[in-house]
Amino acid sequence: MTVSAAITVSDKTVEMPVKAGTIGPSVVDIAKLYAQTGMFTYDPGFTSTASCESKITYIDGDEGVLLYRGYPIEQLAEHGDFLETCYLLLYGELPTPAQKADFDYRVTRHTMVHEQMMRFFQGFRRDAHPMAVMVASVGALSAFYHDSTDISDPHQRMVASMRMIAKMPTLAAMAFKYSIGQPFVYPQNSLDYSSNFLRMCFAVPCEEYKPNPILARALDRIFTLHADHEQNASTSTVRLAGSSGANPFACVAAGIACLWGPAHGGANEAALHMLEEIGTVDRIPEYVARAKDKNDPFRLMGFGHRVYKNYDPRAKIMQKTTHEVLGELGIKDDPLLQVAMELERIALSDPYFVEKKLYPNIDFYSGITLKAMGFPTSMFTVLFALARTVGWIAQWSEMIEDPGQRIGRPRQLYTGEPQRDYVSITQR
Ligand code: CMC
Repeated sequence: MTVSAAITVSDKTVEMPVKAGTIGPSVVDIAKLYAQTGMFTYDPGFTSTASCESKITYIDGDEGVLLYRGYPIEQLAEHGDFLETCYLLLYGELPTPAQKADFDYRVTRHTMVHEQMMRFFQGFRRDAHPMAVMVASVGALSAFYHDSTDISDPHQRMVASMRMIAKMPTLAAMAFKYSIGQPFVYPQNSLDYSSNFLRMCFAVPCEEYKPNPILARALDRIFTLHADHEQNASTSTVRLAGSSGANPFACVAAGIACLWGPAHGGANEAALHMLEEIGTVDRIPEYVARAKDKNDPFRLMGFGHRVYKNYDPRAKIMQKTTHEVLGELGIKDDPLLQVAMELERIALSDPYFVEKKLYPNIDFYSGITLKAMGFPTSMFTVLFALARTVGWIAQWSEMIEDPGQRIGRPRQLYTGEPQRDYVSITQR
């Protein structure tokens, strides 16, 4: 049955096709609206707009469901590993054992960065925010690997994808090492993805380093939880940048820049700062009152989400991971965890948060876990970027492979001056 939506503008009614997905809301296809009525639609913040068709990730915000290629995030985080999730996001199916071994091998063989990148790093101030270093160094990859920037060549696209998934941990660890004045640690290809990353971050040349398998597994799970999240701000940025034909390294650098903001990936850093600022359980009511005060710009960081109007399914797994990591490290009665758990309890029963459906999101617990592992707050969003890289690339590839793909070019509601004549400077 063909379904359409009638839109009446002044006295003219036009029929717009309605497209149905496999699950989730249908969309009204308004591509011909302007041609037929001379009007645009207006939706700042895209609250009612599907910007593309995608087969990668599905979110049901009301039910708190997140699926990668149809598989629930809980099952992938529990039973799979991050590189398996990468394969799934990129190729659409879970790998066979042979495919998985081949994929792991290919990613592992790309973990080193061009030696000249070391020089590039030396130009940064030591106190630079590692996200600033990531924006620059990932963008700079296109200056080092021009044999994989021709987006019309599927082989080059695949090589660029492998390179980014493989090199992000190396660059992220370099950004960390540089900020603390320690030598860079080269990747160790005998280690799995997350153990290798831990080693590049925390090993020093003067000591043996053995990655803790429980921490490596927890980190791997954190990466899986962050791997993709539908058409969020940074992913939309990557798609928009890529729609002009820009190379994938440049597009991912644009995504990292967008992710940095505190309303997006920067929230994990902001959430931990907030927990530290609150400090003790007795001060929570003061901060809850501030969050509810319309005249106070303060928000409870790590709460609320544009799409989830239920518990963020990633936050539940993250909370469990936090307990596992603190348990493994022997951190008992962590004051930040106590503040977090009590804040969560109060917020979940407070009418303001209940009515507005403000639940803890993934960033609420991730900061405590990463801090316990030894990462400074400035690295939290870097780890998010590392994990999200595969999602950005999968979404970018899907867009490039779409035969109907066109440059993204939104329109506007113009509210500036109407046309007027130039006045010479001597007459103003
Ligand atoms: N604390 C207090 N009030 C809040 C909060 C909060 N964290 N979040 C939303 N509200 C209120 C907001 O004031 C508004 O109230 P009213 O209707 O009275 O004006 C209402 O809830 C709806 O908020 P909104 O800003 O219109 O919702 P949005 O969809 O535009 O924003 C958000 C979503 C995530 C930016 C927002 O909830 C927020 O700023 N949260 C804190 C930052 C954060 O944790 N971000 C991480 C998001 S998850 C990771 C990721 O995907 O990047």
